[in-house]
Amino acid sequence: PATTPRPGLRHLLADDDLDPAEQAEVLDLAAALKAAPYDAKPLAGPRSVAMVFDKPTLRTQVSFGAGIAELGGHPMLIDGALAAIGRRESVPDVARVLGRQVTAIVWRTYAQDDLAAMAEHAGVPVVNALTDEFHPCQLVADLLTVRERFGTLAGLSVAFVGDGACNMGSSWLLAGATAGMHVRVSAPDGYVPTDQMLARAGAIAARTGGSVAAVADPVAAVTGADVVVTDTWVSMGRESESVAREKVFGGHRLTADLLSHAAERAVVLHCLPAYRGKEIDAEVLDGPRSLVWDEAENRRHAQKAVLAWLVTRSGLAAS
Ligand code: NVA
Repeated sequence: PATTPRPGLRHLLADDDLDPAEQAEVLDLAAALKAAPYDAKPLAGPRSVAMVFDKPTLRTQVSFGAGIAELGGHPMLIDGALAAIGRRESVPDVARVLGRQVTAIVWRTYAQDDLAAMAEHAGVPVVNALTDEFHPCQLVADLLTVRERFGTLAGLSVAFVGDGACNMGSSWLLAGATAGMHVRVSAPDGYVPTDQMLARAGAIAARTGGSVAAVADPVAAVTGADVVVTDTWVSMGRESESVAREKVFGGHRLTADLLSHAAERAVVLHCLPAYRGKEIDAEVLDGPRSLVWDEAENRRHAQKAVLAWLVTRSGLAAS
């Protein structure tokens, strides 16, 4: 059975599902919800939101769970191993069932195509809580954190040092370009952003006044940067590659020495979990320029804004 089409239905599957004006709206809403966390109840009822995790989670589960409750809703945790989406039954069939029970679906999984299939068949907003390709909720939190510090995003320069082909590298390219930032990604050979991703982000940057580039030398990427970002060398699902990855990523380590090339006002972000002494030195992660704990807190405010915005746009919010 086809799900009844819902006019205005919106999802957040990749960072560029939000155009520049919409991204700014979501960030403004996140700031407002942070200032008054218990005032807005678009999920009153309570409306249920399904949260399904096929990969490990700490921040995402806790921040969505707390955030959904603060919005007046009911966070419904679904065990990814038990649901076995795509194995026990197809993604479209799961989508049709969930969409008749809940007001929105938050899903952390592997394949972006599976997430797209969920969105196609659910009839309710679907939120990407991390896939192999993108981590857009993290980017709303990251941009909120940067905007709190600098008051603006457009024109700032960002250096992403590490696995440039991972979800965080791709999400920084798309979301940073959408915000009009200058994003430089430095990664070892074999881990650079794809030409396709650079072109997709570059087309956005051409409209917003931002820019994107892949830069071989991490010093060149970090020089003058306002925001310096890194992420684990071994993303979830890539554990079998950890020995090989540790051999090639050593030159792309966020050390105090590398950070000394950044702008004087530079801040450091890391989505966590962090591996001190590997992709980031303890003195950087725990140092005065690090905003990682604000960044982790902002997951809740950011994701509340994403959910509130999506259910409102989709005509599903409590009146
Ligand atoms: N790139 C990392 C991000 C963790 C939040 C991963 O996918 O494991």
